[in-house]
Amino acid sequence: MTLADAHRDRRGIRILSPEVAARIAAGEVVERPVSVVRELLDNAIDAGATRITLEIEEGGLSLIRVTDDGRGIHPEDLELAFERHATSKIAALDDLGHVHTLGFRGEALPSIAAASDLELLSRVESEPVGVNAVLVAGQVVRRYAKPSPRGTSIAVRDLFLRVPARRKFLGAPGSEGRQVIVLASHYALAYPGIAFHVTSGNRRSVITSGDGDIRHAFAAIHGAEVAAAMLDVDFMDGEVRLSGLCGPSSVHRGNRAGISLFVNGRWVQSRPLTFALIDAYQAQLPVGRSPLAAVHISLPDDDVDVNVHPAKAEVRFRDERAVGRAVRRAIGHALEASRPVAWDETPAAGSVVIRALHANAPSPLRAPEPLQSSFELSRGNPDHPGVPARTQRALLPMLRVVGQLNATYLVCEGPDGMYLLDQHAAHERVVYDRLVARSTADPDGVQPLLEPLVLELEASVGSTLDEHRESLARLGLEIEPFGERAALIRSVPAGLGARDIVEEVTALLQKLGDEQRVEDPFGRAAATVACHSSVRAGMLLAMDEMRRLVEDLERTTAPRTCPHGRPTLVHLGTETIERQFGRR
Ligand SMILES: Nc1ncnc2c1ncn2[C@@H]1O[C@H](COP(=O)(O)OP(=O)(O)OP(=O)(O)O)[C@@H](O)[C@H]1O
Ligand SMILES: [Mg+2]
Repeated sequence: MTLADAHRDRRGIRILSPEVAARIAAGEVVERPVSVVRELLDNAIDAGATRITLEIEEGGLSLIRVTDDGRGIHPEDLELAFERHATSKIAALDDLGHVHTLGFRGEALPSIAAASDLELLSRVESEPVGVNAVLVAGQVVRRYAKPSPRGTSIAVRDLFLRVPARRKFLGAPGSEGRQVIVLASHYALAYPGIAFHVTSGNRRSVITSGDGDIRHAFAAIHGAEVAAAMLDVDFMDGEVRLSGLCGPSSVHRGNRAGISLFVNGRWVQSRPLTFALIDAYQAQLPVGRSPLAAVHISLPDDDVDVNVHPAKAEVRFRDERAVGRAVRRAIGHALEASRPVAWDETPAAGSVVIRALHANAPSPLRAPEPLQSSFELSRGNPDHPGVPARTQRALLPMLRVVGQLNATYLVCEGPDGMYLLDQHAAHERVVYDRLVARSTADPDGVQPLLEPLVLELEASVGSTLDEHRESLARLGLEIEPFGERAALIRSVPAGLGARDIVEEVTALLQKLGDEQRVEDPFGRAAATVACHSSVRAGMLLAMDEMRRLVEDLERTTAPRTCPHGRPTLVHLGTETIERQFGRR
């Protein structure tokens, strides 16, 4: 039979040429129940299934059965499906660069059949009855026609029973079973359009509706309450498109199992991308906690190679850093859009008392300006109550400064109640954005020193300086080595000059040295310089200074967080205020 014949027929499985077969990442395809399940789910999805049932007994050791309503296997293709390097999914070497299916090697079924007793029942649309086959040690020992719904059901029994050396490496049924359920959960999030029905023993564990809404699938796995709190991710960074859900920083877990990443539809385990995602939360999560997320990453075929791992557990990116950056930006954007942090309404908040209003120029309270339609944007998102809707433009509600509290917070009136702005965090954001914007050595941002200042260096700080000197120079802080234990400060970013420069720069270098993750050294340097050039807590501000700060903040890229990820403002809604006064 030629390839053309195969296409004309409804049959389609062919044996790959030795040349193509040799290029396929070879090695162990199945090593435990979870890897068998992954292969069977992949085949069901590639067959266009809309419903997939997965049953396991004893953690998959005694039984794994996957049933789908996909296109089925043609009876004449049955034997071929169990041959090595026989696949319907690719034909030529060239296809390996454009794999649009989860499978492509023609390795899975033969590997699974070789390690188990396998039974298959399948029917294609065009055939009146299905075919049932029983395989022992990879060989078809019995086959007969049998009525069957369209689709395929494959039962894998007694995995590795005939391969004691492998069986030894398997864990207890409980632990093998858990891995299967975790995998099935990731798949349910990867394919919200497929209805999954997963049972382990007689326990139903993952059941999704397949209505295509990732939030519904997420609810099926993590619960409705968490699902409702999740933020939408929808972001385009160059050619990388990201969509899905990520948790607000208030939702976290003790491990990373709640992070699902998909690349071109494929569930992937990628440490760098997982780190990038966690990094986007910066200091917002408690130490040692991980966020929840289900993020789909789509990028051009050429930018990702799926043929690098025998069990398809990993993919390789042409530019992994760019993908990581896109992940960080997408999550950062989603988090940004979800602020401000609502007032913490724990019982203690019931007794919030505003003690002092240190307004420099206390103006009598004016009647609030009439609401403008753009204010509506901050009122909430009708699709996801509790998640503020926001466009890229209206990142901050319109704020009117009322006064200053404890020489630290600006008290502002907004479209829906009161906002407290942290003057240091807000100014940090303003300075940071300015620094980054003019980092291309704008002379206005740099304040040259007539006399260079001598900076004494501790040994540890010396290496920090070497590491960051370039970034700092781009920010206007030029520091030149000067002998073993000293350096000369030649210029400082405008704004830093008013204080004790040597002390500030020393503190800055120390802080940079303490930073553990320096994924984005320039960004970190800018954040640290911004911190040191900003208005401090405890500084009295005049009314016009406060107004200018709010105006400047409005123009920044991320007005709701400081460069370290902490909030710049909190919100006390009108409704809450009215409740406090018993008006509601
Ligand atoms: N559930 C299924 N429904 C329809 N066809 C299937 C199903 N499972 C397997 N097949 C057919 O059997 C062939 C062999 O499957 P197998 O999983 O061994 O290889 P593959 O999916 O092509 O590649 P890989 O080894 O990367 O998974 C597939 O190419 C497909 O044509
Ligand atoms: Mg396959």
